[in-house]
Amino acid sequence: MAEDTITIRDDATGKEIKLPVVRGSMGPAGFDIRTLQNELGYFTYDPGFISTASCQSGITYIDGDDGMLLYRGYPIEQLAKHSNYLEVCYLLLYGELPNPSEMAHFQSVIIDHTMIHEGLRRFYSGFRHDAHPMAIMVGVVGALSAFYHDSTDITDPLHREISAHRLIAKMPSIAADSYKYSIGQPFIYPLNELGYVENFMRMMFAVPTTNYQVHPSCVKALELILILHADHEQNASTSTVRLASSSGANPFASVAAGIASLWGPAHGGANEEVIKMLEEINDPKEIAKFVKRAKDKNDPYRLMGFGHRIYKNHDPRAVIIRQMCHDLLKDLDTVNQPLFETALELEKIALEDDYFIERKLYPNVDFYSGIILKAIGIPLNMFTVIFAMARTVGWIAQWMEMMEDKEQRIGRPRQVYTGQPQRKHPAEK
Ligand code: SDX
Repeated sequence: MAEDTITIRDDATGKEIKLPVVRGSMGPAGFDIRTLQNELGYFTYDPGFISTASCQSGITYIDGDDGMLLYRGYPIEQLAKHSNYLEVCYLLLYGELPNPSEMAHFQSVIIDHTMIHEGLRRFYSGFRHDAHPMAIMVGVVGALSAFYHDSTDITDPLHREISAHRLIAKMPSIAADSYKYSIGQPFIYPLNELGYVENFMRMMFAVPTTNYQVHPSCVKALELILILHADHEQNASTSTVRLASSSGANPFASVAAGIASLWGPAHGGANEEVIKMLEEINDPKEIAKFVKRAKDKNDPYRLMGFGHRIYKNHDPRAVIIRQMCHDLLKDLDTVNQPLFETALELEKIALEDDYFIERKLYPNVDFYSGIILKAIGIPLNMFTVIFAMARTVGWIAQWMEMMEDKEQRIGRPRQVYTGQPQRKHPAEK
């Protein structure tokens, strides 16, 4: 059988080395470069890690050309159609869909952890009222590690599992409290007879003085957003969680680092930027001006919600959520609101424009999730918080996988040095 290796040749010296190929079950293989520096004296150079596999993972698979997204082998389209978010959480954590009794047990475990320590709630009062909820999330989630000394032994699988359950269960409470604090309203405690999404919507929008009824279409739309955003291979925030926890940092602090990375406008902050862009365009007649700027090489302006690092065809999540978006706008009778009219016109123009077609810059999941969140009344500064809530299970599933991966060690990338050669301090002369 042919050797499963890649030969690397240094043309300057003629020296050749063979590197072993690492093959997975789907998609491109990798070749193992761990001996490259010792054998050939080189590092690899890959800013943004466009072509670098940081790990072997069995959780999520993306095929950017085919517009494919699988969670533990199941197509996202089928999970969106048949599963709820907690079922997807179970699948990502344990690798298989739960049977009814496993689902009932998992649901009861999560429900038992929805409240946060009253001492942690006092953290909120230290923030300015106009603090961005993502700033609060980074602080409060990181502070969870100050409250759970009973389960931060990351070498103990049971501690890892309870930390995963606590994070999944508490993120909606922490998220909703971040919003309530920012508008000066009292925190609403979780009501455990409600489902995961209903509970969150009630904690977000209920007030002690009246009964709150969730709108079923809004719950359905938000549940879909959570499912579609649950995991996405080694994206920036997931890689941040892996790198932070590779030093042995506890999962709460590592997830807080992931939240910080997700906050960036090119990553999780994109759906908030989509609405800001639509509000800036404001009138479908103004769209051409903004599209022209997006095409101008000398203008750093980009259309938020378009393009993707990996999906060089359609983002399958965008294809799924697009229909939900159009249906919801009809359900809520908001199709004719200027913002949504502008969004649908921009979508149409971009899909017909050669610049976007040639570069395969289609609307991504953030384009439609931004519109849905706006339509169901989620405040703009809470959009990325929703994304963080959804992605928590992905971060923690990837963390658990890394903790069990014998090949993993502390992450420590190298560099190609371009600074000054060694030189003497003036006082040394
Ligand atoms: C997410 O990694 C993940 O999985 C992330 C995510 C997840 O679930 O975790 O999917 C969530 O982050 C989705 C992406 C959200 N970001 C945005 O919507 C921000 C707007 N999009 C861009 O910033 C951009 O498309 C990126 C950051 C998403 C991708 O950047 P790349 O990989 O640098 O883009 P590219 O190399 O594919 O660009 C190719 C060309 C370039 O032009 P040319 O040099 O070929 O002339 O397309 C241009 C880019 O300038 N381009 C855009 C554009 N995005 C790329 N031009 C106008 N508007 C845009 N949005």
